[in-house]
Amino acid sequence: MTTTDQSVFTKIILEMQLASGDQIEQCQRLQAAEVEVGKSRRGLGEIMVEMGLLTAKQLETAMAEQRRAIKEIVIGPYRILDKLGQGGMGAVYRATIPDTGVDVALKLLPKELSNDPNFLARFRREANIGMELHHPHIVRTVDFGEDKGVFYLAMEVVEGGTLDQHLQVHRTVPERTALKIVRDLLGALQYAHEKALVHRDIKPSNILFDREGKSKLSDFGLVKAAEPDPAFMTAGTTVGTPHYMAPEQARGQPIDIRADLYALGATLYHSVTGRTPFAGSSAGLLMNQHLTKQMPPPESINPALTPGCAAIIKKLMAKDRQLRYATPSEALDDVLRHLRGETPKALTPAARPHPRPAHHPSSETISPAKPAAPGQTAGRKAPGATQSAGAPSRHRGPAWTKQWPLLILTIAVSILAGMLLMLAILTSGSRPVAHADAASEPTSAPAPSAAPAGASAPAATSPPALQPGAAPSGRGTARPLGSSPAH
Ligand SMILES: Nc1ncnc2c1ncn2[C@@H]1O[C@H](COP(=O)(O)OP(=O)(O)OP(=O)(O)O)[C@@H](O)[C@H]1O
Ligand SMILES: [Mg+2]
Repeated sequence: MTTTDQSVFTKIILEMQLASGDQIEQCQRLQAAEVEVGKSRRGLGEIMVEMGLLTAKQLETAMAEQRRAIKEIVIGPYRILDKLGQGGMGAVYRATIPDTGVDVALKLLPKELSNDPNFLARFRREANIGMELHHPHIVRTVDFGEDKGVFYLAMEVVEGGTLDQHLQVHRTVPERTALKIVRDLLGALQYAHEKALVHRDIKPSNILFDREGKSKLSDFGLVKAAEPDPAFMTAGTTVGTPHYMAPEQARGQPIDIRADLYALGATLYHSVTGRTPFAGSSAGLLMNQHLTKQMPPPESINPALTPGCAAIIKKLMAKDRQLRYATPSEALDDVLRHLRGETPKALTPAARPHPRPAHHPSSETISPAKPAAPGQTAGRKAPGATQSAGAPSRHRGPAWTKQWPLLILTIAVSILAGMLLMLAILTSGSRPVAHADAASEPTSAPAPSAAPAGASAPAATSPPALQPGAAPSGRGTARPLGSSPAH
């Protein structure tokens, strides 16, 4: 028996002699085991029906009796009105202080834990902290105490249900709405961070909505195990599902606010894809996946997701916390950027995973053929740079080629003239000095460009056949940068 209503329920079952104490305990163990692997907590009565211990009619009768009995329960100054929900550590009731009209959400903790002095010390310390938190997106803790061995925490009642309940019905939350929830919760986390507090259990069931739909983070300051703690597990309770747990938290390392950022990222992942990042049949398997496995990219599950939102999720959920946002406010800035329609910083490295110098040779050949995506400034500039600076270089080869016929003609004329001159000398006996100088003119024309220009712009001065080999060497990069001599 872990909660008051279960105490009442089992008392009724025993009084009606519908099941034995052993049978009830067996069902409670199954109930706790299901919660531990991340399943929603089922009612004890539902499990008893499934096990064949109760008929549906008997369950109905026992529940009606339970509702009547619960209303007679008074804990501290609070009279219980009805049950608001059930968590891993206990039940939450709507309760009132009689004759005042003040209603609270009363969280009752399992009796087993009240025997643990360490737990109680932490409960008191953290409940005190919780009461000092005043933020529009944090559920207010208004009171805590103990009555007849039952520890309770009184909070403001938040009427609109939890994100978990919403996801169970609607499966997903529209991206923009989900990001606005995250924006508000990041504000709450930044507020806590400035007080050196870490929540440690961010998950959809700890995100409540008020009647206007405003989100609020609950269980802040509520005593929880900072790391998987066998004492919590064996008490038939859970530290929260491991679906959203940061790797360092699963490892049992000291944690900081970045573990909350991871869990918030996992919550956002769940909200926009309808799935938790990992699935597993046990808490251990789930934690192991957070430690070692790459999650399916959120955009692979929801292709309508914007790249900015997917990038924000991935940054929040980086396994290495150094790669996450350093603080909630840094994450908040990025979410706001994305909500304004600007490119979030999280997207920048993903968009340019291999930044390379603007003058890299491959940019000359690949970029012009492949239109650059908007925002890829390096990609956009490269084609333009290549075209403008590359134009002269393309003309240099053909310019040389155009001169060859003239040279050949000149040489041929010279040889012909020389032969005629020789013939004239042989026939006349005179020496051909002036004509010999004229014959050297065509061969001297390529010489200046072949040697000195080869050092500064070899591709420009090489025969066209050599240019493909020159380009990958990197020397070809000089051409787009406009360092070739004028021709
Ligand atoms: N302040 C509140 N106002 C209204 N309903 C609440 C409030 N706090 C909790 N509840 C309801 O009680 C349910 C149980 O909450 P609880 O915090 O005990 O469990 P949990 O968050 O699901 O699990 P865990 O015990 O691991 O935190 C919630 O799902 C919600 O429906
Ligand atoms: Mg909770």
